[in-house]
Amino acid sequence: MSSLDDSAEDRHPQTSFETIIEPFRVHSVEPIAFTTRSERADALERSRYNLFGLKAREVTIDLLTDSGTGAMSTRQWAGMMMGDESYAGSRSYERFKETVSDITGFSEILPTHQGRAAERLLFSEAVTDGDIVPSNTHFDTTRANIEHEGAEALDLVIEEGKDSQSEHPFKGNIDVDALQRVISDAGPDRIPMVMVTVTNNSGGGQPVSMANLRAVRGVCDRYQIPFFLDACRFAENAWFIKQREPDYADSTPLEIAREMFSLADGATMSAKKDGMSNIGGFLAMNDPDLAERCRNLLILTEGFPTYGGMAGYDLEAVAVGLWEALDEHYLRYRTRSTAYLANLSESAGVPTVRPPGGHAVYLDASQMLPHIPSSQYPAQALACALYLEGGVRGVEIGSVMFGKPQPDGTEIPAAMELVRLAVPRRTYTQSHIDYVGEVIAAVANRAEDIRGLRIVEQPRWLRHFTAALEPV
Ligand SMILES: Cc1ncc(COP(=O)(O)O)c(C=O)c1O
Repeated sequence: MSSLDDSAEDRHPQTSFETIIEPFRVHSVEPIAFTTRSERADALERSRYNLFGLKAREVTIDLLTDSGTGAMSTRQWAGMMMGDESYAGSRSYERFKETVSDITGFSEILPTHQGRAAERLLFSEAVTDGDIVPSNTHFDTTRANIEHEGAEALDLVIEEGKDSQSEHPFKGNIDVDALQRVISDAGPDRIPMVMVTVTNNSGGGQPVSMANLRAVRGVCDRYQIPFFLDACRFAENAWFIKQREPDYADSTPLEIAREMFSLADGATMSAKKDGMSNIGGFLAMNDPDLAERCRNLLILTEGFPTYGGMAGYDLEAVAVGLWEALDEHYLRYRTRSTAYLANLSESAGVPTVRPPGGHAVYLDASQMLPHIPSSQYPAQALACALYLEGGVRGVEIGSVMFGKPQPDGTEIPAAMELVRLAVPRRTYTQSHIDYVGEVIAAVANRAEDIRGLRIVEQPRWLRHFTAALEPV
């Protein structure tokens, strides 16, 4: 990448050079696994072609998820030593609450053990049978928690967000006209909230602009509908706004994040992403009555409201991590190293969702494997091939995850067939990523030999985690 491209960044010493350096040095190391091709073939068969069934020690580079898999900083580990494990009213909770309130501006802060617990609390109390919850794109746990209440989880991302090659700068935006239509057709009484996912994980890790969030706020105000953010990657979204939305070039990620949150009435958060922690999350909002109801459920299912499902030391790690996620050196490195992996893939002739998202590169399996129809899960087939070739584990984001089984045994396929290679935070170096690039190239060279898969067993909810498949 040329230093001429980004004159606004030239003040940063790292950008005067071509090399993207990790803004940290390694403090402790963990060995990674090396396996033979035949061991990997056996592991695939044993896990029934579902990469969630692999043992971590069978994986060389694990890009299954960026969720809870990152490396914590020395300051986070130091913070953990200060963890106050008091059951009620711990110092660690005070620190956690202060941080979350300071960044988000919300007054009611409920800690939860991870994002989906926050979703469950919110939807159990705010959503009922027959409701519709519009979003740009619901993440799988969000969708499942809404459907579990008997409501419809409706995706309304803009058209460009469905076109993997569109270079639109904010492909995570929600289609505001469609949102307006849904509300006036269904009636605001059936819409308990609008939710926007920042960045839009299931749509390629694409950001949502401030202008779009502001427009959603306007629609919600018109109909008196609460507006919630799924804020897992709020800091990466803030960074993209800084880079791509002209009015924000001179704002800090923190200022942008605060403005994003100020447009919403509440947020669910998995601190396993931009909380830079291995576990944790929260539900935050301004409505004290809804918060009270959620808090009572929190006590029933997660724990006392000053720890949720978290240990005191986890609250400390998140309180430090949320600030670290907003550091400009970190965010520049983070987004550029993801783009670096996308460039390697494209150089190998494998199209990716453009432009690269913040936390992951999404390989377009339908373009790479045109001989495999959606009904034979091309993205799952590609994910298995990457593992077999070089021990690289990604995750299918296609019809195994989002296909809709029909009563006649057919399925409505997902809009896109993608393999997500999610980059854990501060964990792998550039040479690890170069290796992944080589593995992608090797798989691309034998693309026509890759066969499709069929599902032989599946659960009712979130089938991609546990479904069993076999080659067609
Ligand atoms: C956008 C989004 N929402 C919600 C979640 C759920 O968070 P958790 O895995 O902590 O339950 C995730 C996790 O990957 C996510 O990416």
